[in-house]
Amino acid sequence: MKQRIWHPCTQMKDHEDFPLVMADRAEGIYIYDEEGKAYMDIISSWWCNLLGHGHPRIKEAVKQQLDRMEHVMFAGFTHRPAEELCGRLVKLLPRGLEKFFFVDNGSTAVEVAMKMSFQYHHQSGAPEKKKFMTLANGYHGETLGVLSMGGMDFYAQMYRPLLLDAIHVDGPDCYRCPYGLQRDTCQGQCIEAAEKAFQEHGHETTAFLFEPMFQGAAGMRIYSPAYIRKLRALCDAYNVNLIADEIAAGYGRTGKLFACEHAGVTPDFLCLSKGLTGGFAPMAITVTTDRIYDAFYADFNEKKAFVHSTTYSGYPVACAAALAVLDILKEDRILERMEKEYLNKCLRQALADHKNVGEIRGIGLINAMELVEDRDAKKAFAPEKRTGYQIYKEAMKRGLLLRPMGDVPYFNPPLNITRAEIDQAVELCQDSLRAVLAD
Ligand SMILES: Cc1ncc(COP(=O)(O)O)c(C=O)c1O
Repeated sequence: MKQRIWHPCTQMKDHEDFPLVMADRAEGIYIYDEEGKAYMDIISSWWCNLLGHGHPRIKEAVKQQLDRMEHVMFAGFTHRPAEELCGRLVKLLPRGLEKFFFVDNGSTAVEVAMKMSFQYHHQSGAPEKKKFMTLANGYHGETLGVLSMGGMDFYAQMYRPLLLDAIHVDGPDCYRCPYGLQRDTCQGQCIEAAEKAFQEHGHETTAFLFEPMFQGAAGMRIYSPAYIRKLRALCDAYNVNLIADEIAAGYGRTGKLFACEHAGVTPDFLCLSKGLTGGFAPMAITVTTDRIYDAFYADFNEKKAFVHSTTYSGYPVACAAALAVLDILKEDRILERMEKEYLNKCLRQALADHKNVGEIRGIGLINAMELVEDRDAKKAFAPEKRTGYQIYKEAMKRGLLLRPMGDVPYFNPPLNITRAEIDQAVELCQDSLRAVLAD
């Protein structure tokens, strides 16, 4: 078939010998192709299908909303699904997060937080605060603003000449901790690099942007909540806003509804997307505090409004899906019942002793396997070998969607995955890994 579609994050030439799957339908943890072959979606289709595909209650909520009103511009109008969603989220979010700005994708939600933070300082007597700080291995999306913040060369290298001049701080690297500490017991000693950066640049910095509890695209790099508490204290000391990007980490992914809860910290901005609508419609929200909001609230001619618009802001169908997600999380007690210990135990039993599995790390239902050439030296494989990618191909043959980040295959399944599904997925994962890396 002649390729017309240019797929995201893909070297299209790879598909010369590894054809794209023609996805036809999806239900629960399975995606089916046109021939009826099933693929277990243990990464929740880029982490957003929070409760599996086609959840009947979300589907029903979406249908009902479509019958009533598909879309309405969100300036001059508001609507019940959005109002109700904010009313419910405000009771669940870390205390103090009270104002909601709606957009349609995660990257934009982070850019909105950055723009708001900059404008807040400008309108609050600190116009010298123009810079952003962030963690060296972060990922916050790929539009030019957030690409400047992300530290990973894979995404950003080509575009460096176009990017904002952000201050990248070395952050936690618990697998190869330079202090020789363990993530479960350390006190976030690696905050030292951030302390230095604040001493040097705190006065000119508007916000510190980070992914709480784990750096997703960097390979599910999980770290201590103590680090977050120290970051909050630094931001307070230097009048710097803290932006928590919970696009990947929010909505129960870490075992708590919001990742900042692990640290007991309220950021000044919290960005949500992905799990928010359970994968039924694109939507993201930048949530912030009354203090930030109040700095924009003035007579029109003072020119203090936040002038950022996006056509699908507050998309009612997405709000209806988001309300259904909250209902299911509560009524089915999803967070209490998720099989996080079971999944972690099964993966450890299956793979912890493998000579190329350097570490299996888990938080909530997220479990990542860092593959290395030499376990003792923690020596990575040469990237040209594309070890993770070979395993992905083997897994696809077997009907498992195990798309890795580099050489880190991972599970980030729907929160309602069952034990039987876990057993099946772990077995397929083990077979795929062994097919590439004989034990
Ligand atoms: C932590 C984080 N921030 C931002 C984004 C960007 O979201 P989107 O792809 O919706 O723009 C992602 C996407 O994976 C993410 O993981």
